[in-house]
Amino acid sequence: MKPSRRHFLLLSVLLCSGLGGAMEPISTTIAVGMAATLTAFLASYQDILYHFTECCRPGWISFNGTGLEEDLNRNVFGQHIASRIILKAVSGFMNNPNPKKPLVLSLHGWTGTGKNLISQLIAENIYKEGMGSNFVHVFTSTLHFPHPSQYLTYKSQLQQWIKGNVTNCEQSMFIFDEMDKMHPGLIDSIKPFLDYYDKVDGVSYRKAIFIFLSNAGGDGIAQRALEFWKEGRNREEIELKDLETHLALSVFNNNQSGFYRTSLIDKNLVDFFVPFLPLEYRHVVQCAMAEMRERQLATNKDVADKVAKELVYFPKSERVFSVKGCKTISSKLDYYT
Ligand SMILES: Nc1ncnc2c1ncn2[C@@H]1O[C@H](COP(=O)(O)OP(=O)(O)OP(=O)(O)O)[C@@H](O)[C@H]1O
Ligand SMILES: *[C@@H]1O[C@H](CO)[C@@H](O)[C@H](O)[C@H]1NC(C)=O
Ligand SMILES: *[C@@H]1O[C@H](CO)[C@@H](O)[C@H](O)[C@H]1NC(C)=O
Ligand SMILES: *[C@@H]1O[C@H](CO)[C@@H](O)[C@H](O)[C@H]1NC(C)=O
Ligand SMILES: [Mg+2]
Repeated sequence: MKPSRRHFLLLSVLLCSGLGGAMEPISTTIAVGMAATLTAFLASYQDILYHFTECCRPGWISFNGTGLEEDLNRNVFGQHIASRIILKAVSGFMNNPNPKKPLVLSLHGWTGTGKNLISQLIAENIYKEGMGSNFVHVFTSTLHFPHPSQYLTYKSQLQQWIKGNVTNCEQSMFIFDEMDKMHPGLIDSIKPFLDYYDKVDGVSYRKAIFIFLSNAGGDGIAQRALEFWKEGRNREEIELKDLETHLALSVFNNNQSGFYRTSLIDKNLVDFFVPFLPLEYRHVVQCAMAEMRERQLATNKDVADKVAKELVYFPKSERVFSVKGCKTISSKLDYYT
């Protein structure tokens, strides 16, 4: 017999709530029987026992603000705006015992600039199990919702998943990857969960976190970054206000973006639009050095330079920004080591 979702739920309810007082009214025979069954069950499912121990409780879910700050500073290169907004937004939300609505972040930018990376860092500093937590859910449009014509099916499925998971644990996190490839109707279907409602059908979503990842608006961001570069201004001088309004508008009005005319943006349900800047040569070098460190290789600047030089940069005339960000560094590095 394969361990099923139902067993998981039953056991996690039992283990997480403690077996103590609740057992009293049950007769001894039943209690003994249950204990025996439980023991047998646990013994034969040792590999998943590990998972049973994760509970929707502070021991497993607690925010580490210093941890997030350190991780952002140490592991994320060239994203001063995104790092700052993320730290403020997540800290503010997690330190508020009574949030009025769930936290909704929309991460935008060129490919390979760190959107998935930052989502991972957020998860790791909230959930002990990080991305492997049972309370972190990743939906990838092209994987989970591939056929636009079936969006009505997806819609009810997705709504049930979100409801079910938040019922299980208020502090659930949902990451929607490739949001720009998602059917606008599907995007709108999650709207009720994101709003300022006390409860929707008896379930409160106020402690959940929703993160949307997309390349929508990436062109506009790159354009602004290029203007700064051409004016000889420091990249760190680029501020959120230089990008934010423009970003929301371009995402909203672009009929290719998936967010096109969705009421998410209309109704201000997204708390923060987080722009990711395209990465320059020096950031790619930093990524290569970090990758070497991660693999516990001796860091070698020459190799990092070689790797960075292999990548393609845009625009054609200036060649400032890496077309794939830091994305292919890992495989390029294999070649040199
Ligand atoms: N700003 C960055 N700092 C450090 N590493 C980065 C950065 N951006 C990307 N990387 C590294 O490059 C790889 C790809 O990054 P990631 O998956 O986060 O990109 P993405 O923004 O999600 O791209 P896409 O839009 O294509 O999904 C990862 O290994 C990540 O660690
Ligand atoms: C928070 O993160 C920091 C840095 O990673 C770490 O030193 C510290 O032990 C963490 N705190 C808790 C409570 O886990
Ligand atoms: C939670 O979400 C996952 C998808 O990430 C889904 O498979 C699962 O059925 C959901 N759980 C509930 C209780 O709805
Ligand atoms: C999208 O917008 C562009 C210009 O804004 C227009 O030329 C194009 O026909 C539109 N496409 C669709 C599918 O509406
Ligand atoms: Mg990504």
